This record gives sequence, structure tokens and C-alpha cells, in this order.
Amino acid sequence: MTQYIGVLTAGGDSPGLNAAIRGVGKTGMNAYGMQIIGFRDGFRGLMENRTVTLNASALSGILTIGGTILGTSRDKPQKMPIGNKTIDMTDVMVETYHKHHLDVLVCLGGGGTQKNAFHLMQNGLNIITMPKTIDNDVAMTDATFGYDTALTIATEAIDRLHSTAHSHHRIIVVEVMGHNTGWLALGAGIAGGADVILIPEIPYNVEKVAESIRQRVRDGKGFSIVAVSEGAMPQELNERIQVASKDSKSKKAKAELEALEAERLTSTQTLTQQLEALTGLESRVTILGHVQRGGIPSPADRLLATRLGAACARYIHEGIFGVMVAARGDSTEPVPLEQVVGKRKTVPLDHPWVETARNLGISLGD
Ligand code: F6P
Repeated sequence: MTQYIGVLTAGGDSPGLNAAIRGVGKTGMNAYGMQIIGFRDGFRGLMENRTVTLNASALSGILTIGGTILGTSRDKPQKMPIGNKTIDMTDVMVETYHKHHLDVLVCLGGGGTQKNAFHLMQNGLNIITMPKTIDNDVAMTDATFGYDTALTIATEAIDRLHSTAHSHHRIIVVEVMGHNTGWLALGAGIAGGADVILIPEIPYNVEKVAESIRQRVRDGKGFSIVAVSEGAMPQELNERIQVASKDSKSKKAKAELEALEAERLTSTQTLTQQLEALTGLESRVTILGHVQRGGIPSPADRLLATRLGAACARYIHEGIFGVMVAARGDSTEPVPLEQVVGKRKTVPLDHPWVETARNLGISLGD
């Protein structure tokens, strides 16, 4: 019996998405005779029944292309923005699934997508997911595709910032993406030889950061590179957020939490100014932003995405649903979605990369 497969990509785009679509599509067609369609722009395309046939010609030549040929969005089935309202459109999506006589819906995404896919599973659909994100923060998988490419881009940026920081005897603070986790800043900071690395898991003390830079000056090094994760924050702000989030029910507490989160978003700029004042060194900030997500996927991401995609098709053939295709070393493992949803893989404080950074003499700001 031919199996009918639907595929969508949701959340922020990530290098390797097309390699994963190609991996599941080509394996599905060649090895198991499946028929594949894609839905455009994430869960919105499923709601609006906007499809594209993923046949051999559609899947050809996409391996090296960045972004996603299907388009993506951050729309959620239960809270779909329609006009100026948000409406639960789960039933409409379930209807589209049945209209196409699908046997399974493959959802490619990060933590939010795993949650939305799980919601559709609870509404009766056969679901299988793959973990993508440049943040590397999806639980229960060794790796997510997109991370390696972003790591390469951020590392190259740190490499380039070294020569200009050195020439001008400046501090350059470079903000790296990663949402609420520090994998990208820590990885790129170590690989690029940053002098200070600040991550959300280790709230920092600005005076300690400044002292490590002053020590470098005393050691004859008149410049410093500070790699800071977009989610990193000073210890006092972290404490205020912890307190405010304990009581986030009242309107006042919610507003306070929002104000603190806004402060957190600008903390890289604030840090740069503080470091200039505390060290006397001219300081500049570089925010890498979406450039980290753009362009062609690295070979490691292409390989990871392709093998997860191929395994996904195999699991579908075997009737294994309700799982995320996790990377386990060189192999894969189907992990029940219940075990993935609602969790985030943060950097453990005793992670070997943390120890490596400390032993190298890199300041982590604590
Ligand atoms: O999750 C990937 C990511 O790039 C995060 O690192 C970042 O915080 C976020 O997405 C940015 O989202 P958007 O593209 O919606 O601005």
C-alpha cells in the first residue's frame, strides 16, 4: 500500500532544512514508494491547504540551498493569527490532513514546533518530527541541524573581529544568537578564541568581566573579544527576573516581567558601555543576528539532516509515529514526543566545554 506523507517546516528557518526534506522525500520515494506533499509556510499552509508536490524534480538541486523551499512561519495551530484575533484552527488542520488521505505529517522544527506537532498528535494525527535549530536546544537529541552552520558563521565573525580589535586596542563585544541557551556563544567563543564568553546559564558580574580584561591589559594584551549570547544577562537582572516570574499572575507583575525582559534584550549594549567605562578601553558592539541563519548549510549539517530524513522515512515505513527522529552518535533513535515537549536542552554547568573554557583562562563572567 502506498503511504502518503505530508511535510512542513515551522519556526525560524535553519540551514539544512532542505537537506532534511530531500532526505525524507527521496528515501520515501526510492526505497518505499511513498508519495510526498509539502505544506507551505508551516502550520499556516496546513490550515489554508496550500501544498506543493514533492516529486523527484522538486527535490532535485535543493541540498545546498539555505532556508526552506516550503517557507516557514511561527504560527501555532491553537493560536492562529487571523485578522486581529488569534483563533484555534486545529480542526481545520485535521481536516486538511484527512482531505489528502495522509498517513503521517512530518514536522521539521525546534522546541515550539515539537510542541505544536504534539498538539496535532493529541488531536488524532500520525506525527513524526525532526529537530532543527541553530540554537541546539532541543531536548533528547545529541544534535540539531543548523547549529553547525551557525557555529561556523559565528566563529568566522569572531576570527575577523580579532584583527580589527587588535589594531584599534579595543574591546569588541559580539552578540551571538541562541535564544535562552548558550551553545552557540560557547561553541563559537571557544572555537574563535574569545577572551570572555557570557551565556544565559551563567549570569555574569560585569565587574568580574572588566577585571579579566584589565588583567589582559596588564599582561600586555590591549584588546579583548567578548562573545555574548543574546540571552545572557547580569546576575542582578537574573535575580530580578527570577523573583518577578514567581508572581507573574497579576497585571502589574506581568508588566514588570515584560520590562525586565526588554532590559535583557538591550543588555549587550549596556554591557559594552559599562566595559568601556570600567576598563578605559574603547569598546564596540557587533550583533551578528540573522546572518547566522542564512546561506548554504555546512557539510556536517547536510549530512545530519540527510541521515535524519532518511531514518524518518524508514520509521514511517515501519509505522513508528508520535516520535522525534533524534540523533544518537552516528545513528538515530525514535524518541516519543511526550519526552521532548516542554523541555529545553541548556548548557549544563559541568559540561566539558565549560570546563575547557575555564581551563583555557577564558572568563565566563562569574
Ligand atoms: O531559534 C532560532 C533563532 O534564530 C534564535 O536564535 C533567535 O532568538 C530567534 O530565532 C530569532 O527569531 P526571529 O527570526 O523570529 O527574529
